[in-house]
Amino acid sequence: MDIGHSDGQLGFVCCKYAQEPLILAVNYPALGEDLVDDGYQDVVNIDISSVLIETMQAKYSHKSVLKYIKMDVRDMSPFESGSFDAVIDKGTLDTFMCGEDDITHATQLLKEVERVLKDKGAYILITFDSPNNRLDLLRSVELWNIKLHLLERAAKSSRRKRWELSAPRPLDRDGSWATEALGSHLDVFYTYVCIKDESLSANQATDSEIPSSQNDP
Ligand SMILES: C[S@@+](CC[C@H](N)C(=O)[O-])C[C@H]1O[C@@H](n2cnc3c(N)ncnc32)[C@H](O)[C@@H]1O
Repeated sequence: MDIGHSDGQLGFVCCKYAQEPLILAVNYPALGEDLVDDGYQDVVNIDISSVLIETMQAKYSHKSVLKYIKMDVRDMSPFESGSFDAVIDKGTLDTFMCGEDDITHATQLLKEVERVLKDKGAYILITFDSPNNRLDLLRSVELWNIKLHLLERAAKSSRRKRWELSAPRPLDRDGSWATEALGSHLDVFYTYVCIKDESLSANQATDSEIPSSQNDP
């Protein structure tokens, strides 16, 4: 993965936001290993499965910058608020959306992601699910600035790099226009880059305070 070029690589997106990314759940292919190979100094991976974590710890015992920690993504309390400048999620939110109490668990995950992110940090969500299924959830939980990129599921040409991303696609409120704009690009992962912006919640708080103060006698 080449993070040195501004040509739409996932690595470039990570590079733009992250020095010490947090990766939710163990990934195949090993995204964390790719990032370390690209020069990242600290890449933290968490997963709820102790078998997976122990396997990865043994596999990468020679790479101390690649850390594997057993943790539930819905409760990342061992991490302080504002610890990471990027959180990468490939398919973990999707796991919750396939199970019982899907919205409850997905909401817990998103709230924890928002908490551990620094201001202007990025939640990079790589998912099968199209904007009309994901945007409402993302927007209902947090105030993000959201960009949508496409990531080919399989590199069809050897000249294509594994994590190659499109330029951002236009998004509207419900994602329907974006879905039309995708056209025949169906063999893709949708990659949402959600930027935490604390000024958005500050503005919202200010807006909600105005009417009540105007109503004061
Ligand atoms: C479908 S896989 C996600 C896809 C994987 N990231 C990939 O790219 O291949 C689901 C992963 O999420 C982990 N997982 C499920 N629930 C979790 C939770 N509450 N906290 C942390 N990891 C969890 C599972 O152990 C499993 O490794």
